[in-house]
Amino acid sequence: ETEDLERRFQRTVDAEQRIEPRDWMPEAYRRTLVRQIAQHAHSEIIGMQPEGNWITRAPSLRRKAILLAKVQDEAGHGLYLYAAAETLGVDREDLTRKLVEGRQKYSSIFNYPTLTFADVGVIGWLVDGAAICNQVPLCRTSYGPYARAMIRICKEESFHQRQGYELLMTMMRGTPEQRAMVQDAVDRWWWPALMMFGPPDEASTNTERSMRWRIKRHTNDELRQKFVDMTVPQAEKLGVTLPDPELRWNPERGHHDFGQPDWDEFWRVVKGDGPCNARRLAHRRRAHEEGAWVREAAAAHARKRAATGRP
Ligand code: ACO
Repeated sequence: ETEDLERRFQRTVDAEQRIEPRDWMPEAYRRTLVRQIAQHAHSEIIGMQPEGNWITRAPSLRRKAILLAKVQDEAGHGLYLYAAAETLGVDREDLTRKLVEGRQKYSSIFNYPTLTFADVGVIGWLVDGAAICNQVPLCRTSYGPYARAMIRICKEESFHQRQGYELLMTMMRGTPEQRAMVQDAVDRWWWPALMMFGPPDEASTNTERSMRWRIKRHTNDELRQKFVDMTVPQAEKLGVTLPDPELRWNPERGHHDFGQPDWDEFWRVVKGDGPCNARRLAHRRRAHEEGAWVREAAAAHARKRAATGRP
């Protein structure tokens, strides 16, 4: 009977129809989705920190308003994604506990420091650019609630990417020092941005199964290539150099050839030993503890409302 259910499940997926929360699904499909969606949600929430670092020091009121709005959007993305994960029978409280105890991952990229205001622009351009490249196909992922959450997230991410590029364009029209700041930030973020797509396909343990289930629609290497091809002309227009001596157009392949990121560094960062891992988790843990009274007050308020029958 399970075999029958599995066959029907795969037929639904192959027909490009969505799986919904009440549909039968293989337990491993559910677990894979919880893992990926939780990691994704945690990345949005932890991702508020590197840029949040610059809110109090933004160079103008306008830049501060933009940055505040952007960081708030990331919080919203985290919340839609936790809500999508909850449709799979897990609890946000429990996912948060796993994050702060270091038992669930978040994206490697957010373990790097933001040293100058140019980093805000480069994060918008490269990090959000990579996120879009990875996430637009997820609007067609097989699990309905995840796919629907991704539609709005992608619209907001594309606004974030443009604000980053616009910030960099402005700095590139500025002083030689400002141009040097942009180049320095590009040099530091380029390789970590390429790592966001995950390990090379041959080292990616989840890709094959996630592709069969149409959770993932492209492999890690396919998306990395797409990102490089998309970014090279943008770098030229901006007037910065991407720090890869092997980067060149390959007319036979119709794609750019490029060098490999330092995969040892990637695994070190994923395993908790990056430049900012400890600081990011400590900050998240503290925010969670300091927010306990808000959660308690909200729950008490909800109970009182329910008891008096008022909406
Ligand atoms: N940072 C941290 N861990 C990573 C990263 C990364 N950049 N890339 C891969 N990993 C982990 C995987 O989670 C997996 O570990 P696990 O099995 O313990 O969970 C392991 O490395 C092997 O990788 P894959 O088998 O390739 O993992 P997967 O099939 O899940 O692919 C990917 C990774 C591409 C990141 C996928 O999960 C995905 O598309 N996620 C949704 C997008 C996302 O999370 N974006 C977050 C950053 S963007 C942003 O928030 C602005």
